[in-house]
Amino acid sequence: MTKGGMTIHGFRGELLSVSRDPHHHPDAIRYEPDGLLVVEDGIVVARGDYMTLAGRFPGLAIEHLPGLIVPGFIDAHVHYAQMDHIASHGEQLLDWLDRHIFPAEKAFADRAHADRTASLFLDELLRNGTTSALVFPTVHAHSVDALFDAALDRNMRILSGKILMDMGPEGLADTVDSGRSESDALIRRWRGRGRLGYAVTPRFALTSSDAQLQVAGALLADHPDVLLHTHLAENLRECAAVADRFPAAQDYLDVYDRFGLVGDRSVFAHGVHLSDRACARLAQSGAGIAVCPSSNLFLGSGFFDFGQADAHGVRIGLGTDVGAGTSFSLLHTAGLAYQAALSRHDPLDPFRALYLATAGGAALLHMDDRVGGLEPGQEADFVLLDCAATPLLARRTEHATLADRLFALQILGDDRVIARTYILGQCAWDRQGTAS
Ligand code: GUN
Ligand code: ZN
Repeated sequence: MTKGGMTIHGFRGELLSVSRDPHHHPDAIRYEPDGLLVVEDGIVVARGDYMTLAGRFPGLAIEHLPGLIVPGFIDAHVHYAQMDHIASHGEQLLDWLDRHIFPAEKAFADRAHADRTASLFLDELLRNGTTSALVFPTVHAHSVDALFDAALDRNMRILSGKILMDMGPEGLADTVDSGRSESDALIRRWRGRGRLGYAVTPRFALTSSDAQLQVAGALLADHPDVLLHTHLAENLRECAAVADRFPAAQDYLDVYDRFGLVGDRSVFAHGVHLSDRACARLAQSGAGIAVCPSSNLFLGSGFFDFGQADAHGVRIGLGTDVGAGTSFSLLHTAGLAYQAALSRHDPLDPFRALYLATAGGAALLHMDDRVGGLEPGQEADFVLLDCAATPLLARRTEHATLADRLFALQILGDDRVIARTYILGQCAWDRQGTAS
């Protein structure tokens, strides 16, 4: 239906969202077994029980979506340049970077390679129901242009920023000056375009000089709208090398703190090996952790301590961390988060896992006013899940409660359960192959 040049459309189906952490706000679980989502020009304008709401919109074109409708997933940490090197055998973090990842990232000196990979990467996100992400590209400024151009084409909400790594290997190192001027130029070039946002992205403490970490802090101070995105306390050998290089720092987080990199717009990937002091400082500053359970398992990094983070009130989201992560699916990642948490006797609730994969990630990335909850006023990015996508899932969910169905989707599900992905109310991925 068109109303004064605007398009308005209804979606009828089973609606589920968790807009706040149910650990603290159990009433944040919002569920309509027969719901109606009304979308005008890509924005949710009404949501509620179908029978109650439909009468308010006479003549509304309504599409019936069979399946469970949840907000689009938000990947809080992923590397697009590593997608072709997922499942690389043999090493923990530092050797894996040297042997597999740095050579792969060197290939992004070629803009055409970056363009091709960025397109394939974003299509893979959509196939997995992921509509927003905070993304590591490479050191090359044009790797950000390639990703942002492809994201603009798809109207996706994507955050990224060129990697700063002046102490990186030959062929993959910038300098203090080039890192600063290229970051500055990218921020100015992309500010306000589409649904994109910039993140100042020092790779990690070991690949930047003190002078470059200082530049990262200066960029954040100059541009209060950007995020800080880096890795923190992932692997024991990495932590030992950081302690060795920065003997005056209280811990790994304190290294970043000394350069002005810890604030409420900071997103740190992993945080597997954190002191209580660091957790308290994260909570106090409003910074958060992108928890990456499949990567932590794949690289032998360890298990994130949800209990420790919760005791301090640290903000968290979920990241796939492909290519160290083994799947683009945030459902599968949520299932592994459950297993990681349980290894410390802390059974992650499936509604909380859904929150972390949607509104929790949105809050971490400072986009929760726009996406994550399918609430009126938010952008209509959502996913249609098929609880019968495989014979086993169909049997397990046939007579299950909502909580058990959601948990089964997380433990048994992956890209196969993503029937459709919608961006701003438009179908961007259809398993049947007819996306607009
Ligand atoms: N630490 C520094 N760089 C990387 C990377 O590319 N992947 C992961 N998992 N950790 C890192
Ligand atoms: Zn990473």
